[in-house]
Amino acid sequence: MSWGGIIQAYRDRLPLPEGAKIITLGEGNTPLLAAPRLVTALRGDFDLRLKYEGMNPTASFKDRGMTMAVTHAVAKGAKLVICASTGNTSASASAYAARAGIASAVIIPAGKIALGKLTQALIHGAKLLPISGNFDDALNLIRQMSNLPGVEVVNSINPVRIEGQKTASFEILETLERTPDFHFLPVGNAGNITAYWKGFCEALPQGPRPRMFGWQAAGAAPLVDGHIVKDPQTIATAIRIGNPASGPAALTAIKDSNGRIDKVTDEEILSAYQLLAQTEGIFVEPACAAPVAGLRKAVAAGWIPKGSLVTMTLTGHGLKDPDTALSLFPNAPSAIAPTLEAARKALGL
Ligand code: F0G
Repeated sequence: MSWGGIIQAYRDRLPLPEGAKIITLGEGNTPLLAAPRLVTALRGDFDLRLKYEGMNPTASFKDRGMTMAVTHAVAKGAKLVICASTGNTSASASAYAARAGIASAVIIPAGKIALGKLTQALIHGAKLLPISGNFDDALNLIRQMSNLPGVEVVNSINPVRIEGQKTASFEILETLERTPDFHFLPVGNAGNITAYWKGFCEALPQGPRPRMFGWQAAGAAPLVDGHIVKDPQTIATAIRIGNPASGPAALTAIKDSNGRIDKVTDEEILSAYQLLAQTEGIFVEPACAAPVAGLRKAVAAGWIPKGSLVTMTLTGHGLKDPDTALSLFPNAPSAIAPTLEAARKALGL
């Protein structure tokens, strides 16, 4: 049978309204890639598998939750889906709304959205409302708008988003046919770590389950620092969040899994971002490199025993944020003459 998206695949494990018309773009069923060259570069001795969520239809993990949220919105008769977003939720919401034939409006921190994500929302016809504030301010506004008639909030404060996102855990377990020892992922608004843990708990009611290791950016690390961050700052704009909505659930997942929540600097993120791209050929956006940087830290600290099985979610595609990638290469190569001699000289051959 061909792949028809996560609702078709996991219908028995997802809450759906009676007779709902499923709104799907064929999300899920993403690759789980071995990463031996990255492990060697990190000086580790374990098995690492990368769940490449950038391969979803709008190039981030949000699509798993959005097929559920928009399916529910349509079933309820909503005419407009709304969200606050650092970019990926808005890209996904606007695409699924277009697919459903309903409108979308997205509230975003002005000037802090990666180029690819902004482009996606625009091309799918979303109404863009940039605010002079950060993601936390945007989510605050969305909460106030949630009771407006005909409107459905599709942020992860909508529990069906979490339901959809938990399917990534199911896929990991089915692919591996065993339980990972650790699961690494970035943490922003903390919905995804909550969703993965829910998925692991449902699929493995008796355990054992993976230890959840969540990673925040150092300038936006409220769960690590133990307090709300008023003015979060990081190059990883996707996780530039100071007051995560699912913070308490994330901390429960960390505690119950005997896991860890920790932070990495922008410098460490950018270094890991390039290392992943150059050792494994996998291009992610900066937020996804937070757990890669975290893994480097975990290896150095001796937290990953030899022979462990480690899974990691790479949440979004690198093409979402071309500006950050290009900023690492300020000296664009200049043109050469189209001759063998010039090519040999340029390549040192
Ligand atoms: N990685 C990427 C690429 C993201 O876009 C996000 C969140 C996260 C990680 C963190 O996931 O919030 O569930 O802890 N992006 C949201 C957005 C906030 O609006 O697109 P989380």
